[in-house]
Amino acid sequence: MPFAPPLEDELGDILEKAIRHAGLTEEQLAAATGIGVDRIKDAEDYRYDFSCAELQRLAVALGLNEVGVCAVGEGKYPLPALPPLPFALHTIALPYGIGRVNTFVAENPDTRATLLVDTADCPERLFAAWPGALALPEAVLLTHWDHDHAGGLTGLLHRQPGLRVVAPAERPGVAVEPLGEGDERTIAGFRVRVFRTPGHTAAHNVYHLSLPEGGLETPGVLFSGDLLFAGSLGGAFFCCQTLRREARRVVGLLPPETVIAPGHGPLTTVANERRFNPFLG
Ligand SMILES: [Fe+2]
Repeated sequence: MPFAPPLEDELGDILEKAIRHAGLTEEQLAAATGIGVDRIKDAEDYRYDFSCAELQRLAVALGLNEVGVCAVGEGKYPLPALPPLPFALHTIALPYGIGRVNTFVAENPDTRATLLVDTADCPERLFAAWPGALALPEAVLLTHWDHDHAGGLTGLLHRQPGLRVVAPAERPGVAVEPLGEGDERTIAGFRVRVFRTPGHTAAHNVYHLSLPEGGLETPGVLFSGDLLFAGSLGGAFFCCQTLRREARRVVGLLPPETVIAPGHGPLTTVANERRFNPFLG
């Protein structure tokens, strides 16, 4: 079964984030679009019946990609066929609160070594879902320290003391290798390139993974954490302008066929998000 969860963000989430990014109030957006303020507030509560023309007016007023906003609003956001990768990538989506969080396991085709990206909050659930044929991870990359993504690290280290842990910042009591913008390492037989992407949190990394001989131009995966989702951006708990700038920067640096593996929701590609993501177009 392909991994095909719903989008992480609905239209209401996108409008709420975009209103904040633009520094507008719902009343100002209503005045700019001619759409009643109550309908805008209803949409933020996931009740909406906008026409395509109204969705376009909202997109223009908020500086969003019109095609992407209409697609989300009509429940038709396109997701691409993922290009083949030169290594196996497994998605383990685990429940967290009312939603789900993604962790990923990449397996090196030559050595069978594995690399884990984010731990979710519960190692027992992670390993209950761990594909049986896969070796235990040689290392874990953390996109950020939020509990849904990294809360399981302590339990994981109890099971695997000495596990190599890469993170965007140090944490008292945990031995981690803090990496940031421009750092490159060979880990578990993969080439890992680090982009520092504050916005969701002050300390947040995204990681590009390829085989060691590959450059950024070769087939690879971007683990985007809570920077970027299919069809949306993460919540900006640090700074929305920085988050949007960082998402645009990273997507602009990578080749279109790069697979994006986000912290929530379905996988996508750089080409797809450049074309349709409401916040990137
Ligand atoms: Fe998250």
